[in-house]
Amino acid sequence: MKVGVAKESAPGETRVAVVPDTARRLTDDRVEVLVERGAGDAATFVDAAYEEAGAAVVSADDLYAQADVICKVRKPSSEEVGRLRGGQVLLALLQPLVDPELVRALAKRGVTAFSMDSIPRVTRAQPMDALSSQSTVAGYKAALLAAEHLGKFFPMLTTAAGTIPPAKVLVLGAGVAGLQAIATARRLGGVVSAFDVRPVVKEQVESLGATFLELDVEGAEGVGGYAVALAEDQHAREQELIARHAHSSDAVITTALIPGREAPLLITEAAVAGMARGAVIVDLAAEAGGNCALTRPGETIVSDGVTIVGLTNVPATMPVHASQMYSRNVQAFLALLVKDGALELDFEDEIVRETCVAHGGRVTNEAAEA
Ligand code: NAI
Repeated sequence: MKVGVAKESAPGETRVAVVPDTARRLTDDRVEVLVERGAGDAATFVDAAYEEAGAAVVSADDLYAQADVICKVRKPSSEEVGRLRGGQVLLALLQPLVDPELVRALAKRGVTAFSMDSIPRVTRAQPMDALSSQSTVAGYKAALLAAEHLGKFFPMLTTAAGTIPPAKVLVLGAGVAGLQAIATARRLGGVVSAFDVRPVVKEQVESLGATFLELDVEGAEGVGGYAVALAEDQHAREQELIARHAHSSDAVITTALIPGREAPLLITEAAVAGMARGAVIVDLAAEAGGNCALTRPGETIVSDGVTIVGLTNVPATMPVHASQMYSRNVQAFLALLVKDGALELDFEDEIVRETCVAHGGRVTNEAAEA
């Protein structure tokens, strides 16, 4: 049984799906590990480290020809899809709801594809939850980006040169990324308030030392603990109330997402115009269209004196730990697929079944099928 670690080809991608430490654990479990030459370079994991861990460093041609399982972070390019063989297993963040075309192409090639972002959110699957691990990285970095772009201190300082009040930080969306952003902004000394449409997070927000805004807007929690879109009148009310809070914030970090849909618009153009000059918005939802009306995905712009950071693929800015965490997710998931050093797919297992998006020439994920 051979597990292959492909080099990422997406522009700006620095992560690698399996780090040397995980490669060692896999080889200890009697799995052969093949690593495409240079796969870990951008994340500081050099070929020699993989070889020391017992893996073989090979060319892309050999990797795709020999591996039973190909591990990637990002979805494969069309060229990479062309390299995959029937019966080969692929693990990657495939975004089946956003890119059903790709799932159909993989099914057509007879690839068995598992989407690391479709891991069901059940307790047993927590070590495999790549959405959570990468959101943790993004949430942390969002607070640092806010601090970097703000021309002010985050903490309160009492100095001979005067007293500096702490920065006021507003975090919208308190899921995995939002909670990490809150925790990091608090560690930097900011005074943090937060809002989420799922009222159950109030306690988690407060336990991090932040204030939960009571906006009198309440959404529902859908399958897997995710939010569902708000009714139109509730959404309009939310935008209006957020604008009032944004007006007095130094930094706003937005993380709100609805699975399979455009990100909800939380900060309107008028709300940006109402913010103080020098304020910062970090929009972690940029890739899904953005929570701020003025966000330009992949760019940092200034509008009415407000800096709006629309960086996409934030986890790739911290490739070492982002890769290490993703790699542990992959290892935990592989443990479900590999028995005694051999591939054994058990579709009775709900995690295997729900994560699989293509198998036996068919699309197996209902959402991608639709
Ligand atoms: P997500 O990335 O899909 O969304 C981020 C946040 O945005 C969510 O908390 C959502 O409620 C919020 N949001 C959506 N629309 C909004 C709006 N209009 N205004 C304000 N906030 C809005 O969610 P994420 O972070 O992936 O996780 C969602 C939840 O899933 C977690 O908080 C948790 O309850 C659950 N979960 C369970 C796990 C497990 O049991 N294994 C692991 C991770 C998460």
